[in-house]
Amino acid sequence: MKAIAIIQDEHRAITAVVEGLRHLVAAIAAGQAAADHALLAALLRYIEQFPERLHHPKEDDFLFARLRLRRPEAAPLLDALQQEHAIGRERFVELKAMWERYRDDPEALPAFADGVERYAHFHWRHMRREEDEVLPLAAAALAPDDWEAIDAAFASNDDPVVGVPASRAFRELFRHLAATMPPPYGVGPQAPARR
Ligand SMILES: [Fe+2]
Ligand SMILES: [Fe+2]
Repeated sequence: MKAIAIIQDEHRAITAVVEGLRHLVAAIAAGQAAADHALLAALLRYIEQFPERLHHPKEDDFLFARLRLRRPEAAPLLDALQQEHAIGRERFVELKAMWERYRDDPEALPAFADGVERYAHFHWRHMRREEDEVLPLAAAALAPDDWEAIDAAFASNDDPVVGVPASRAFRELFRHLAATMPPPYGVGPQAPARR
């Protein structure tokens, strides 16, 4: 059952990055931070590679799949969340396109900032629903051999979905983000105070 703690930890890590992106973009829009496109690119790359390509697909393929077998009546909830995974992927593609437009044209900042707010809100609601509804149901309904498979998928260093040593790569990327993000989200250099 250790996958429950891993999923909660992953949600915390994803939230930290999405919230960091949200506040960085708001600070840029308010003229309080520089438009650091290398940092924005790193934040977007994390979201693309971790929640979108790894975390949500593992939920679909392992946690939701086992839960569907044990609790057929949970199908509407799991269908809705699985559909949100697909919608999230589409929204991320749109968000990345908004950033590319902004990178080429500073006038496109408000649209990008808006997109970030909407994506953050959508993602937050999605993860809350998983934690409030799916994880308690899984804790009650799944058997030890279900957990064995789910735990192995979530604990694996060599990720079975994409076949790369994902965990280490993401820990390194996360450390890099924490080192580059200005406070309070990281320990990187602060933007010079405006006079
Ligand atoms: Fe999810
Ligand atoms: Fe999740």
